[in-house]
Amino acid sequence: MYKQATQTVFGEGATHASILLVGEQPGDQEDRAGHPFVGPAGKILDKALTEAGIDRRDLYVTNAVKHFKWEPQGKRRKHKKPSAAEIAACRPWLEAELQVVQPRVVVCLGATAAQSVFAKAVRLGDMRGRAWSTPHAASVFVTVHPSAILRHPESAQREQEYRRFVQDLHHITSYLRKAA
Ligand code: URA
Repeated sequence: MYKQATQTVFGEGATHASILLVGEQPGDQEDRAGHPFVGPAGKILDKALTEAGIDRRDLYVTNAVKHFKWEPQGKRRKHKKPSAAEIAACRPWLEAELQVVQPRVVVCLGATAAQSVFAKAVRLGDMRGRAWSTPHAASVFVTVHPSAILRHPESAQREQEYRRFVQDLHHITSYLRKAA
């Protein structure tokens, strides 16, 4: 629901990046700042990228949906998951980004990103851990959304999920090295 958003948050980064990361939609802070992944999920993402030896300046980072959708919760703007229709409506923008950037690898952060990239609802657990191809991208990896890591109530589980996320990123860099 684009009318609620402060602004459109476009993708940004290296024009011919080897890796294009797709998130879900801008969050509260991204909506205010006008840039993707600058809030709490972005901080986890940056930390994991650094641990995996990936420089964010070498990436192109975007979202399946370009507007923040939310509902009021007290004084907070609580994130609302985009609908299948909203994901489909924004899909041409993602396809255009893929066409311009022509990344070697696309990384879907979470189920909404994967739903956009594969043009159908997919189960994260079934897709994680190997490369897939689509008509718009030759090598696609699916991993967890950084916000899902933050949502785990137990710190041990958070740490475990975070480690698995870093491992997925390592796997992607070694895939890129082997395919070079
Ligand atoms: N979550 C996303 O999926 N994208 C952002 O840009 C920020 C948070």
